[in-house]
Formats: sequence, C-alpha cells, structure tokens
Amino acid sequence: MRPLARFLPFLLILAAAPLPAASPFSPEDDARASALLAQMTRAEKIGQLQQMNVRRLTPEVREALRAGGVGSALNAIEPKQIREMQRIAMEESRLGIPLLLGRDVIHGFRTVLPIPLGLAATWNPEVIEEGAALSAREARGVGLNWTFAPMIDVTRDPRWGRVAESPGEDPFLASVYATAMVRGLQGDDLRAPDRLAATAKHFAAYGASQAGRDYNTTWVPEQQLWEVHLPPFKAAVDAGVASFMSGFNDLNGVPATANAWLFQDVLRETWGFDGMVVSDWDSIEELIEHGIAADEREAALLAARAGIDLEMVSTTYADHYAELLEEGLLSEEQLDAKVRHILRLKSALGLFENPYPPEGAVYPPPVTDEARATAQRAALESAVLLKNEDRTLPLTGEAPHVLVMGPLADQPYEQYGTWAFDGREEDSVTPRTAFETWAAETGATVEFIPGLTYSRDQTVEDREAVLAAAREADALVFFAGEESILSGEARSRTDITLPGAQAALIAALAETGTPLTVVVMAGRPLVLENILPHADALLYSFHPGTMGGPALVDLLVGRASPSGKLPITIPRSVGQIPIFYSHRNTGRPKDPAEYVFIDDIPVGQTQTSLGFDSHYLDESNEPRFVFGEGLSYTTFTYRDGRLSAERAAVGTAIEVSIEVENTGERAGAEVVQLYLRDHKGSLSRPVRELKGFEKIHLAPGETSTVSFTLTPELLSFPGPDGSPRLEPGLFEVFVGGSSQAPSRGTFVLE
Ligand code: NOJ
Repeated sequence: MRPLARFLPFLLILAAAPLPAASPFSPEDDARASALLAQMTRAEKIGQLQQMNVRRLTPEVREALRAGGVGSALNAIEPKQIREMQRIAMEESRLGIPLLLGRDVIHGFRTVLPIPLGLAATWNPEVIEEGAALSAREARGVGLNWTFAPMIDVTRDPRWGRVAESPGEDPFLASVYATAMVRGLQGDDLRAPDRLAATAKHFAAYGASQAGRDYNTTWVPEQQLWEVHLPPFKAAVDAGVASFMSGFNDLNGVPATANAWLFQDVLRETWGFDGMVVSDWDSIEELIEHGIAADEREAALLAARAGIDLEMVSTTYADHYAELLEEGLLSEEQLDAKVRHILRLKSALGLFENPYPPEGAVYPPPVTDEARATAQRAALESAVLLKNEDRTLPLTGEAPHVLVMGPLADQPYEQYGTWAFDGREEDSVTPRTAFETWAAETGATVEFIPGLTYSRDQTVEDREAVLAAAREADALVFFAGEESILSGEARSRTDITLPGAQAALIAALAETGTPLTVVVMAGRPLVLENILPHADALLYSFHPGTMGGPALVDLLVGRASPSGKLPITIPRSVGQIPIFYSHRNTGRPKDPAEYVFIDDIPVGQTQTSLGFDSHYLDESNEPRFVFGEGLSYTTFTYRDGRLSAERAAVGTAIEVSIEVENTGERAGAEVVQLYLRDHKGSLSRPVRELKGFEKIHLAPGETSTVSFTLTPELLSFPGPDGSPRLEPGLFEVFVGGSSQAPSRGTFVLE
C-alpha cells in the first residue's frame, strides 16, 4: 500500500481553501482602479510603484510628484508638508492620483504605548486593539494614511534586537495580537478619519534569523513555516489587513523579497489576499548583495515576478521596469495588477475624495487625557511579576521611605523603547515622577538616587553614600534595564544580561538588607541569573512607553495587581537559545530529576556512565521563567476541569471548562490558558501548544467558569504543504496560569 493510502481511513484532510478574507476593498475601489488604468501611460503606471523617502519637500520631490513618478512616500509627517504633497499629486499631476503616506507607527505615535512584546504580555486583545486605534487616530490626524505595522514575526531568539517589536514566541498568541492590531488600526472602514491602512510584516520568517543576528539568513523547513511563522500572517489576512511587507531575510535560499512561493502561492493563491505588497527598505536592490541578482535590472525582475507591488526607497522598478516590459520579461498584465493593488488601496482609504490632513492639524498631535489613560492601562497590563518573596510587593507600611534607584528610573526617552520617532520626551512620565506624586498624595517619603546614570554605565558614583542611603530606606526600588538603543532593528546582542554595572550594584544593594524590588525595563527577555537571587521582588515591564511611570507605581504600591504574562520564555543562559515551551519531546527526553552537572562528574568516568538523553552538562533544560508565567498579588485556584467527551469522532469539537476562584485577598486578573498535546501524529507534535486563553477579572472570593471550544481546526495541525491534518488519537488538555498548567484530562478522537 502506498503510504498515503495507508493513512486515508484515519486521516481527514480538512479542505485547504481558506475562509474568504475580510477584504477592505469594494467593487467601487476596483472600478476606480480600472478606470484609471485605462488612462495611464506606462510611465505613470511605473511611477505608482515607487515609494520615496521624503523628509523635506525639495524641488526634486515636487517635480517627481508632478510627473506622476511617485505612488507613495514615507516619513513625511508635517501636516503642512503632507497637504502640499497631496495637493501637487492631486492638482498638478496629469491624473490627480493621491499618495499613500506611510510611517512606522509601531507602538504608538505621539503617545507611546509599551513595545509590542509588552503589548503581547498583556494577553488582552482589547487593550492591544484600543492602543492600535489610538495610534491610528493620532497618525491619521496629521495626514498619514498607512502604517508599517503590525510586525508579527514570531521569534524564539532574545538575542535578536527585533524581538522588542514582535509578539513573542507563540503562533497562537501572535495571531490574536495580529488580529487585534489590524482591527485597531483599520477599524471597519479605512475611510474613517481616525484609521490607517495596516501592514503585516515581515513576510516571512524574519524572526528566525540565524544566531539572533538581525538581517541574517533564515533556513526554515516548510513544516515549521506553516506551524510557527505563517499563522499570524494568515490571521492578519483574515482580519482584512490592507498590505504586506516582505522581509529582508534570505529564506531557504530565496530572499523573501524575491520569493514567489511566499507572495504568489501562499499569500495570494492559498489565502486569497487581495491587498498591496511593499518591499522593505532597499530590499529589492539588496537582492544583488544576497547574490541572486546580477544587477538592479535583474533585481527588479525577480521582485516583480515574486509579487512585490511597491518598491520602498530603492529605484530598480523606476529605472528598469520599462525595459523589462520591452524585452518581454515582464508583462503589461503583471504591471496592471500591481498598479491596481496600489490604486485600490488609495481608493479604499478615501484619498481620491480627501487626501488632506484635517484643517488645523498639527505635528505632533496633542496627547489627550484619554490617550494617557489608554497608554497607562496598556503599560499596567504589560508588566509581569516574576518574583515576590515574602510579599515584598506591594510596598506597604505607614508613610514608608522609598529609595528610587537605577538607570531607568528617570529616563523619559529610554522608557519608550524602539520605534518612538514621534514620541516627545516631555510627555513621558517616569517612575521617579510618579513616585513623587504618590509621595505627595500619601505622605510617604521618596528619595531618588540613580546610582548609575545610563544602562551601560560602569561606574557607581559615591558608592558608599549610595549604599548608606539604601540602608536608611524602608524599601528599595531599582529600575534596571536596557536603553532604547540596545534593542530594535540591527540591535542584536550576544550577552543578554543587564549591561554596565547594574548587576553589581544590585548585588551590593541586597547586602544592605533593605527589601529590594527590581523593575526591568528592557527590549527583550534578559538573562537574569546574576540579579535574581539578590532581588526580593522582580517586575518585568519591557519598555512601557509614555505612561510607564504611573502604571508601574500603581502596581508597586498596590493600587493595581500585576496581570501580565510572559509572551516569550526567559532563558537561564544564552547557551539554551532557542528555548521555547512548544518544543518536541525528542526520542530521549530528559527526566528533570536526573541531571548530573559538570562539576559532579567523577574524574575518570567512562563515556557510558552518564546516560544518553537530551541535556546539557552545564545547564538544565528548563528555562528560568516559562512562557505564560506571571504572578499576581492574589492567588487563583483552578478546579473542576471538564471535557465534553472522553471519546469522540474525528471532526467533533471538544468543550473544555474549568472553574477559577480568586482565593486571595485582593482583586486581580488572571490569564486562563489552554494547552493541548497531540500525543501521536503522523508527524511529531510539540509537547504542548497554546490553543486558547482568556483574561478574567475576579474580586476576592469570586469564582468564574471559563470555557473553551477545541474546534476541529484547533485540533488539526498543518502538514508540510500547509493543508490541515485532523487525525485520530490521544489528546491531553492542560489548563492553568502558565505553559506549565496541569493536565485536566485526555480524550481520544476515533
Ligand atoms: C526597515 C524595517 O525593517 C521595516 O520594519 C520598516 O517598516 C522600514 N524600514 C521603514 O522604516
């Protein structure tokens, strides 16, 4: 029997055809594109394919706009300049085609939200959507109409600087994030004066950069692409995302920007995406550096064939498209299809009717109270409490004397993190300021001695005075972390511990005996081994944005309870990377009770004496903090986990329910997480996979029943060609407050 035939009685292959995407385009947008295409010269069509970086409106830019040589610009932000650019395009170019105006509005515009990794740590799609809607409102308000967000690259490598911009390690969480971001940015109607067209980026697998070095090569088997890297992009398509951006990475030997499989087969044919595709900055020209194009002409040919519509910054289309058409290497139909994607988006945004910023628009737009409240809630929910010995937190006591310390305690800009072009230092409320406000309100005493002035600072000035002050205080709160510049694009690190003398100072402060809380404000999960034993409490906040100070102080003084959960594993050491919860079991899994570490190996041991399972000699396999982990000031008890069936026919949905009670003394929020293990598949399956979660708020003593439905779609997994496989066999369900959730039962599909 042929192998597939052998499986067929057991294997139900779900229909591969996607659900129709929630396209933001209407038949009228299409009709407008057709009408224009019928009038356009070849040069005008090619002009639409160019995106120009326009910081200032120079005579050259004016001329290019007038000639119809520009379809889009990025980085123009002044409403006056935007108005003038659109006016020239509308009134002085022959066909009056408005411009797509893009910007990296990644985690806020003037009001800066937590970095995306922090937003993902909220595990709250409502907060993410509300934040995205705020960013859209502020940015559209100056005349922008398009953002290069959401970045939805799953990554399992905290060395990679762009982990800050990503939703973390898990495809399910990243998909929820993608959907919430697209909804928040685009709303129901791109024409609305407070929405932006969104971009799903970077297609695809950019987060798998080898060794965590940005722009590095990626080699990802198709199976892994379908399981890990592609799902958030599919979610973005289903949410109706307007555009896609290609990655800088070389994927399995074919750079993403020249990858027809990605853009044609997967994106358009399999998923039915009908929006626009933009290259990344210069990434068409970089096909030469990648070594797959001899020159710019060939680079243009490869990118055009792969399906890139709009060229960001480099000018290979502008310079070579016409000649490629003449030589018959590219067709007029292909060109028309690209231009149609661009024009249709402009039409859907309502730009033909009104491409201008609102009257009276100013850059930067004001920060409203409502915006501050949104940013504060996001920052509050993004902080993850990882340690709290002896209830160090929240800070208590009558009018305590709190010593606020550390290089991130009073750095308005550094708490923004990466991509905060449009944030203003003066808006940012630091922890120091928020603590001082709290002190004025409550009669507490707050003293501020940073100890180190920036995160890489190697010298503690007046060390003895600092330590003496620490001895005097009732509580120490040390704001540690990384400056903004240490994470983000092209900001990879191999040593991911706290930089500078932070760890040494924290160790010395612990010696004083004063209870010590460390708050980490960083762009990545850091290795915390050298500070963890010294901290009585540790709150991980990522870079929290404009309202980081008040949000963190609310948590530290107990006005709110932490509710963030890690969207990515925190390793014990760099040597464990990549480390993530949804790994395979291997044929020789390690029994955690049986480690023998390097120093315990007797001299002269024979090769066979240590056993042959999957482990390191000098580090456990377990991370320091697991995916989904995060403490609260209260406690939650889970009970009565139920499954709707112990046996069911393949194709049946399984209902899972559980009761969760707040068994502590304070109100709090818990992220109830559902994981699944498919014990036997036609391909090996992860030891567990996140399949559902819900954030619930409970008063002390309150109980809530949380239910999940494991649909056939959730019970299936993709094969190497992407088509879902729903197979019979034993499944195990885990529900709890982290990826270590206990088993709640098993069921068999037959
Ligand atoms: C390069 C980055 O990779 C991309 O994410 C960004 O949107 C563009 N530059 C535009 O700034």
